[in-house]
Amino acid sequence: MNQPVMRGVELNAPTYVKNAKLLAWVAEIAALTQPKDIYWCDGSQEEYERLCQQLVDAGTFKKLNPAKRPGSFLAITDPSDVARVEDRTFICSQNQDDAGPTNNWMAPAEMRALLQTGNNALFKGSMKGRTMYVVPFSMGPLGSPIAHIGIELSDSPYVAVNMRLMTRMGRAVYDVLGVDGEFVPCVHTVGAPLEAGQADAKWPCNKTKYIVHYPETREIWSYGSGYGGNALLGKKCFALRIASTMGRDQGWLAEHMLVLGVTNPEGRKYHVAAAFPSACGKTNFAMLIPPAGFEGWKVTTIGDDIAWIKPGADGRLYAINPEAGYFGVAPGTNMLTNPNCMRSLDRDVIFTNVALTDDGDVWWEGMSDEAPAHLIDWQGKDWTPQIAKETGAKAAHPNARFTVAATNNPALDPEYDNAAGVAIDAFIFGGRRSTTVPLVTEARNWTEGVYMAATMGSETTAAAFGQQGVVRRDPFAMLPFMGYHMADYFAHWLKVGEKLQAQGAKLPGIFCVNWFRKGEDGKFVWPGYGENMRVLKWILERVEGRGQGQANVFGVSPSYGDLHWSGLDFGPEQFDKVIGIDRAAWQQEMKLHDDLFTQLGAKVPQALRDVKAKIEAQLQG
Ligand code: GTP
Ligand code: SPV
Ligand code: MN
Repeated sequence: MNQPVMRGVELNAPTYVKNAKLLAWVAEIAALTQPKDIYWCDGSQEEYERLCQQLVDAGTFKKLNPAKRPGSFLAITDPSDVARVEDRTFICSQNQDDAGPTNNWMAPAEMRALLQTGNNALFKGSMKGRTMYVVPFSMGPLGSPIAHIGIELSDSPYVAVNMRLMTRMGRAVYDVLGVDGEFVPCVHTVGAPLEAGQADAKWPCNKTKYIVHYPETREIWSYGSGYGGNALLGKKCFALRIASTMGRDQGWLAEHMLVLGVTNPEGRKYHVAAAFPSACGKTNFAMLIPPAGFEGWKVTTIGDDIAWIKPGADGRLYAINPEAGYFGVAPGTNMLTNPNCMRSLDRDVIFTNVALTDDGDVWWEGMSDEAPAHLIDWQGKDWTPQIAKETGAKAAHPNARFTVAATNNPALDPEYDNAAGVAIDAFIFGGRRSTTVPLVTEARNWTEGVYMAATMGSETTAAAFGQQGVVRRDPFAMLPFMGYHMADYFAHWLKVGEKLQAQGAKLPGIFCVNWFRKGEDGKFVWPGYGENMRVLKWILERVEGRGQGQANVFGVSPSYGDLHWSGLDFGPEQFDKVIGIDRAAWQQEMKLHDDLFTQLGAKVPQALRDVKAKIEAQLQG
């Protein structure tokens, strides 16, 4: 096959790459960004090891002690590049109203001028002196009818190796793509071109950042950051922002949800999808180990962050995990809070921004009660418990993460790779709220459930750049990940439910949870983690129509005696603290729902306004 003529750089495409559109696009981006060469990733183990070694040689990676942590590396980022940048994330639809008031928007032509076509366009020459990696990946099982292919062009080898763990990445993608298959083009640069002879930074990035989506043409352009969701474009950019618009157009859902399987002692298996905002416990819940008192129960992981959910011919909703790995929060993870996660991290892990121990292993806040006597912290400085006491310095960044293949998880669900997905029995929505929101509430119907999810609030975490701990509305835990107008998304959820109901299907139950209520002492009242199994069991009983509960203003919540308490010392007074509804606090809360609906404007579905009016009337009464 003829390869497009290039200025300066050889296209170098392997003969097995036969997609004409892809070849032309790679040539076009290379002409724009002017890399020194182009490398086509094949996804092999040999390639992975070679690129990791290259990152070690460049000083980006440190190889961890193979006796302690075989096959594993520590990456330390620039201190300014540690989380997603929501204020630099754009949805560039033709009409601003299609992006809605919760997204940053710029007209596509204006954005293209800034990034590609203008005189000082940011991508012009942005890869100078660097290799451009061509990273072919499949979101979802390779070749499955519900999977979608993306190609990421990136000048970051860190991105290439992380994409290999996070997605089905490699040569086989080209077989699926064929001569004329479709793919989502994803362009990524760290925005740090190298002039001849210029020494590279250990973590090149740019203080200017743009994370840009063109929903109509399904393109992603990311500039200036090498970190996580900013740079691993299969994840939030593709599998949520672009996929949510695909789902709207095609009648399915792309959600910020974990998916778990739960098997009861009788051997009956259920599947649950749960949306919690960033760093609010999805990975923990997806890997839950049932506590004492739950002998014979088993929880297995299908996904820990993203679910694609499609209606099946039988009227049920089927979920797949489009990812192949976990990019999870390290701090707070330990053998008590999440043993399955700790075991997943035994080998073949890329850690980012955790601390280094003197024996070449890793540590983070919360890994053990007692901190090691000496560490190198995530900024490369000496760290001791004494220094931490005096200065408050954290050994690991609060958004420090691990990247690991799903196959490392000892609790991986056997259906994880099943292209047909798993039928969802219940949806759970949960924010991080120290007050107001009860431990668990079941919505009485789909519309009330959509209202619950739409009006969810959560205290912000270190997963996004900016202030932590302020309550904001985070509808469906999707606020930073919506590819279109949030109110249209509410309408889409209502429509999916209506359609299935019209088929006579039984819809999944919808539940709202909160693990995070605090007492006067500022400590969490609910023990959380594995003990969340008690709530999960009640949810499954409700789904089966046999669990007991008490009706309240919002739906149905359990009384103390409705939960299974064997194995845990948690009394009725403590339970009151996590389940109680404070009317005054809820009247305040409803004002925040009001603010959200005002912000979203006329597109908010009337059915949701009706639910709100009903709740308000009951709170008055
Ligand atoms: P993203 O990967 O950012 O989307 O987040 P995630 O929802 O997967 O976050 P993850 O499970 O890694 O949550 C990490 C944080 O939640 C840590 O600070 C945990 O200690 C805390 N956490 C998780 N489960 C619980 C719980 O049941 N109770 C309490 N109090 N904290 C929890
Ligand atoms: C999140 O912030 O919700 C994440 C991490 O899952 S990142 O991939 O960086 O967005
Ligand atoms: Mn997430």
